[in-house]
Amino acid sequence: MQTNYSRIIAGTMNWGSWGAKLSSSQICELIEACYSNGITSFDHADIYGDYTTEGDFGDGFKHCGIPRESLQFISKCGIALSNQERGTKLNHYNYTKQYILDSVERSLHKLKTSYLDLLLLHRPSPLMDPDQIQEAVSELINKGYIKSFGLSNFTPSQTRLMQQKLEVSANQIEISLSANSPMFNGDLDYCMTENIRPMAWAPLGGLLGKKVIPSALELAFKKLCATYNTTKDGLLLAWLMNHPSQIHPVVGTTKIERHKTAVAACEIKIETEDWFYLLAAFRGHDIP
Ligand SMILES: NC(=O)c1ccc[n+]([C@@H]2O[C@H](COP(=O)([O-])OP(=O)(O)OC[C@H]3O[C@@H](n4cnc5c(N)ncnc54)[C@H](OP(=O)(O)O)[C@@H]3O)[C@@H](O)[C@H]2O)c1
Repeated sequence: MQTNYSRIIAGTMNWGSWGAKLSSSQICELIEACYSNGITSFDHADIYGDYTTEGDFGDGFKHCGIPRESLQFISKCGIALSNQERGTKLNHYNYTKQYILDSVERSLHKLKTSYLDLLLLHRPSPLMDPDQIQEAVSELINKGYIKSFGLSNFTPSQTRLMQQKLEVSANQIEISLSANSPMFNGDLDYCMTENIRPMAWAPLGGLLGKKVIPSALELAFKKLCATYNTTKDGLLLAWLMNHPSQIHPVVGTTKIERHKTAVAACEIKIETEDWFYLLAAFRGHDIP
């Protein structure tokens, strides 16, 4: 089953203690602003803010007048951070059945919701056992705790392993102009073949706010931003969304104006030669 996510997904990693440290009322305002701009999907992970950001979001969400069914909540589990309260001494991955079940129940409690629209396994682990994961996910679906299941940072072969046991509806991976290998190494081809929705984390690729970027890239930004009447962030997002795999960028900003730019970028159709011009400007050479 494919859930409908907004094309731009709001990433919450830096809404709380790992970033902007927004108050409950600021979080509520930001959720409402996202909603009124057409961003209805919110990306979480249990670990964000050292296990505190889902709770901060839930506290903000409870003050919003937006019906839960109008939004989509995505969360992830499987990274166990070293944490005194939880008795973990070392950062590691954990995909045992009980760990997955407990993680999701905690996420639901913190987000103040009865279900997640999508649960992602945060990163592949050498110890993951598809049978145990299948048992946990089936139980979560049967209880109505999650609507769908997906992966994050999984290669096509790791994805195929999971697909033998479960329907995989999404893979959230790093994709951007600067992290463009999924466009060439088969990751996005595989998503298209299998009808898996690709979600792009860090879609701006760390290219903005940097002091020095190559002058060819700066020039390309200048020309193409003028051509498409957008800003650098809008151009970088449009560049991703012009890929035919229907990439859904997960944007990390907490600024309402930048969310608006991102939504406007969904409408930008980049001419083929311009698309390759931006790639060449980043790489420093054109295609082989
Ligand atoms: N699945 C995974 O393993 C994984 C890993 C990492 C992240 N994620 C998800 O992906 C989301 C996004 O990740 P990200 O935050 O790295 O992505 P991003 O959207 O590429 O980067 C956001 C950063 O870029 C800055 N920025 C945006 N527009 C700018 C502009 N015009 N000029 C200068 N700086 C600008 C933002 O600053 P302002 O805040 O000031 O706008 C923010 O610091 C996270 O929130 C999380 O939900 C998932």
